[in-house]
Amino acid sequence: MGTYVKDWKEIYASKVISAQEAISKIKSGDRIVTGHAAAEPTYLIDTMIDNYKSFKNVEISHVVTLGAAKYSHPEMAGHFRYNGLFVSPPTRLAVNEQRADFTTSFFHEMPGLFREELPVDVQMTLVSPPDKHGYCTFGASSDFTKPVSECAKIVIAQVNKFAPRTFGDNQIHVSDIDYIVEHDEPLKEAPPAPIGELENKIGELCASLIKDGDTLQLGIGSIPESVLTFLGDKKDLGLHTEMASDGVIDLIEAGVINNKLKQNHPGKSVATFVMGTKRLYDFIDDNQMFELYPVDHTNDPRVIAENDNMVSINSCIQIDLLGQVVSDSIGLRQFSGVGGQVDFVRGANMSKGGRAIIATLSTAAKGKVSRIVPFIDEGAAVTTSRNDVNYIITEYGIASLRGKSLRQRAKALIEIAHPSFRDELKVEYERRFNESYNA
Ligand code: COA
Repeated sequence: MGTYVKDWKEIYASKVISAQEAISKIKSGDRIVTGHAAAEPTYLIDTMIDNYKSFKNVEISHVVTLGAAKYSHPEMAGHFRYNGLFVSPPTRLAVNEQRADFTTSFFHEMPGLFREELPVDVQMTLVSPPDKHGYCTFGASSDFTKPVSECAKIVIAQVNKFAPRTFGDNQIHVSDIDYIVEHDEPLKEAPPAPIGELENKIGELCASLIKDGDTLQLGIGSIPESVLTFLGDKKDLGLHTEMASDGVIDLIEAGVINNKLKQNHPGKSVATFVMGTKRLYDFIDDNQMFELYPVDHTNDPRVIAENDNMVSINSCIQIDLLGQVVSDSIGLRQFSGVGGQVDFVRGANMSKGGRAIIATLSTAAKGKVSRIVPFIDEGAAVTTSRNDVNYIITEYGIASLRGKSLRQRAKALIEIAHPSFRDELKVEYERRFNESYNA
């Protein structure tokens, strides 16, 4: 919780400075970690960018980008360099043009990276205004943000009245902040991903594997979003997830997600960050049943597995016939990051009665390519290994790969591939296993 100080108001007042003064605390060559997603301190970042000529070789690091990420633009070369632990649309071009870097890591290990391998000179973060005891919260993000506040040499906080006041382990006392900049601005929003007919088919198949009493993790994208719409008639579901989106609100309000049967944090919906619209940010504001914890807690597979019947649902880009799952690169192109996919696949597999699901459309690029392939694309990285994977779902059905031989898993995957690609996959099956597909 940080250092309690009774007469905190004077301390607070002594730390308030202008954004211009705050960015003067950054030195050339520093590593800065900023808040991400809906917890981006946009005003501080914009002030830093406006003064870019004053800085040389400053590294900016964080995870999800909803802002403009101007620090990754070509004209910032030599001043700022983005080193992302995840790649988002605003930073994707810079990373793939090698003007920015990508550092791969399981999400649950990121706080440890910032403590050890990537020491932080300056944290720039967003916080909610202090409560009557002088505690601010990190708003929509606990993830790496709270842990970095404990190891950064300098913590600069933008106090923003739009940042929700959140519960869990997500607070900082004003005495532990070095510099405070007061500036209110609405949080960045991510509208729900559009859900089409095929995503709905897949969502319904995923929902068929979810039982009353399960605890859920839902990943990024339209498929996890669609699954939520098919859970209205379930009972006593729990939420222990990395990211929560708008989709969970209706289920919580309807009492479908009530967290009654969870072993870990019973009665509470748990996430490490939330990303959605103002409706979601208002929902978690001052809401005792919704808790945010640092990612080395929420995403630690051992913590995930403390809940029985844990179901993880994530999406992917490509799967080969061995069941190797590519989720964060398209060939040589870095598309996103591993995030918490493997954390939750492993946690769900370790949970008593747990199920790890990877759900994807059978094709990509407007139907031109199969996502189920004989070999993953040259340059692509395996995200979830064939030893971790269990259920794969496409709009053509469910393949359960655990305990299956290589031949059996290849057949199970071909059966859920798009029909127009099945013949070529069968040819590859026959080549690899030296037997007729129909033998
Ligand atoms: N070949 C070529 N293009 C491909 C492709 C493939 N095999 N697979 C996907 N694409 C293209 C799609 O056509 C789409 O392009 P478009 O935007 O031009 O239509 C784009 O890549 C995105 O694919 P899509 O499947 O629609 O993405 P999504 O928004 O549903 O997200 C992941 C899916 C896998 C990228 C996303 O879930 C992710 O980043 N996962 C890794 C991290 C993770 O799982 N975290 C979980 C904890 S929150």
